[in-house]
Amino acid sequence: MTDQQRFGSGCGRGKELSTRLVQSGVRFDTVTGAISVPIYQSATFAHPGLGLSTGYDYTRMGNPTRQALEEALADLEGGHSAYAFASGLSALTAVFLMFKAGDHLLLGEDLYGGTYRLLDSVFSRFGLTASYVDTTDPAAVAAAFRPETRAMLLESPSNPMLKTSDLATIARLCRERGVLSIVDNTLMTPYLQRPLELGCDLVVHSATKYLGGHNDLLAGVVVARDERLAEEVAFVQNASGPVLAPHDCWLLLRGLKTLAVRLDRQQENAAALAEWLEAHPLVEAVYYPGMGAMLSFRVVDPALVAQVLGSVQVISFAESLGGVESLVTYPLEQTHADVPEETRRRLGIDERLLRISVGIEDISDLRADLEQALVRS
Ligand SMILES: Cc1ncc(COP(=O)(O)O)c(C=O)c1O
Repeated sequence: MTDQQRFGSGCGRGKELSTRLVQSGVRFDTVTGAISVPIYQSATFAHPGLGLSTGYDYTRMGNPTRQALEEALADLEGGHSAYAFASGLSALTAVFLMFKAGDHLLLGEDLYGGTYRLLDSVFSRFGLTASYVDTTDPAAVAAAFRPETRAMLLESPSNPMLKTSDLATIARLCRERGVLSIVDNTLMTPYLQRPLELGCDLVVHSATKYLGGHNDLLAGVVVARDERLAEEVAFVQNASGPVLAPHDCWLLLRGLKTLAVRLDRQQENAAALAEWLEAHPLVEAVYYPGMGAMLSFRVVDPALVAQVLGSVQVISFAESLGGVESLVTYPLEQTHADVPEETRRRLGIDERLLRISVGIEDISDLRADLEQALVRS
């Protein structure tokens, strides 16, 4: 029996995205009919005989639970294939390992701080160069390409300033120059934005965030648009090794099923909180792009930051985002501490900026929590 016969195709292909999310992994195990994909907690697989294979050899190269997850993710993002990694940063590492010394990468300047750190402190040692540009300005992007530029990576909306970029235009600018376009789609998820459909080449996720959705696992994803790119990602994944473990693949599959309902509620809460913060006398500015469930805001006085972080009772003062529990973060000292100071100043990541990942709690409790925390002490 081949793996094609043993395992079916889950994820309700051809149906609406919210249906496909719920159906992730369903009908994959055609042997037992398990609705929840079994956790194949095995590092290796026996060969039936010399030259014969069940389709699986060793879990780094392939594992049925990971296969069910990767098939679902490829379908959801509209890509050829998806690959699951041990964290978002290991997914980004795999993408950067596709390049060589002397290659140049162009990046959006408003990026997760760990992406900066990975390029500026690790990959720079191996001769990969990087420069940063305001991706909200297509003319600035067009002017920033170099002859040795091989790829462009951006987040839209960006993090933490939540600025949006025109992905279709950027994909076109890249394609015209033979440059790969890569989007970190962590904040939007395929439920809200599918960069491959806009012409981009690779999608990356920290699946730790919305895809998992429960603040209980670290995971990363790379989705490739076509077969040639898929082969390159698959090669790097197997050669470098940071695959997502079977149990975490199962947790991520379980999280995916409720993505649509979680995000609907999170967006509704975020829009309501953004509106409430806009009218607050101690808030100078609110950054909310009108979609998704992340918002940042600038308070009028730096002293209010410690006051808010020390007083919230429903919202937790913690790093990360995208889970069902609301979290408040201080980007200057947490997520964006590794961004060069000059860049942070220019972008507005300063001692008065706070970021909230809005969860699914009752909006009246979230509002009341901020109301009691956002006061002069
Ligand atoms: C947009 C974005 N990309 C990548 C990462 C890195 O992901 P991970 O923490 O899963 O390694 C993060 C983490 O916060 C992130 O916010």
